[in-house]
Amino acid sequence: MNTPYSIKRYVHTERLQTVADKVRRGRRMADVGTDHAYLPVALVESGAVPAAIACDLREGPLENARRAVAEAGLADRISCRLGNGLSPLAEGEAEEIVIAGMGGETIAAILEACPWAKSSGLHYLLQPMTRSEDLRRYLLTHGFAILSETTVEQGGHLYVIVEAEWTDAPVCEDESAFVLGKLDGTRDRAWLLWQKELLTKRKNGMTAAGETEAVARLAFILQRLEERL
Ligand SMILES: C[S@@+](CC[C@H](N)C(=O)[O-])C[C@H]1O[C@@H](n2cnc3c(N)ncnc32)[C@H](O)[C@@H]1O
Repeated sequence: MNTPYSIKRYVHTERLQTVADKVRRGRRMADVGTDHAYLPVALVESGAVPAAIACDLREGPLENARRAVAEAGLADRISCRLGNGLSPLAEGEAEEIVIAGMGGETIAAILEACPWAKSSGLHYLLQPMTRSEDLRRYLLTHGFAILSETTVEQGGHLYVIVEAEWTDAPVCEDESAFVLGKLDGTRDRAWLLWQKELLTKRKNGMTAAGETEAVARLAFILQRLEERL
């Protein structure tokens, strides 16, 4: 179990703190879509990781990162790089890879676009803001294993954090796994109840539209969800 690294000096966010807690100590980390570089700065400054690479697609957010890194006096240990997804990184430069604060479909596209993303030994911490189902579907049908999931409540919103690695796992055909992942009936109850409400509404809509296949699929997922509560 990793020791929590305080990032409260930089930002009061349980979401990023939970991601930080899951980064393995002593490994080089990359933060894709870093914006303000809160995470790399906190992890390097606290000694949790020896060095980090902070990447962003856009110059504005990367400038925020450069400023934060310079203010923390960590420019020799945090490299700030411009580019799409994992493209600013060379294979083997980081073992801990964080992609947080984007849509699930964008995170999946970033993984798919990188020729070395499917390598054993890489530890991914993925935090989709939306469409977590799309991200799980991608992971579980492209050889990745979901190691754990956690939900975090912050400011009235629920966020999900997915810990994954590539294991060349067989393709998952269980549709319920794409929605429920590794979420726990007790710890992640609020998320599951929210999903139940959404799925029930969707199922009612499909029933009214006579979409029998979709209704059967949703009924199956809802049954699995109930079993978890
Ligand atoms: C909402 S911020 C998230 C910042 C931080 N990761 C967090 O979770 O608080 C999303 C950042 O991802 C960047 N971004 C979006 N798509 C990206 C991509 N394909 N590659 C790299 N960065 C990307 C955006 O420029 C933005 O700075």
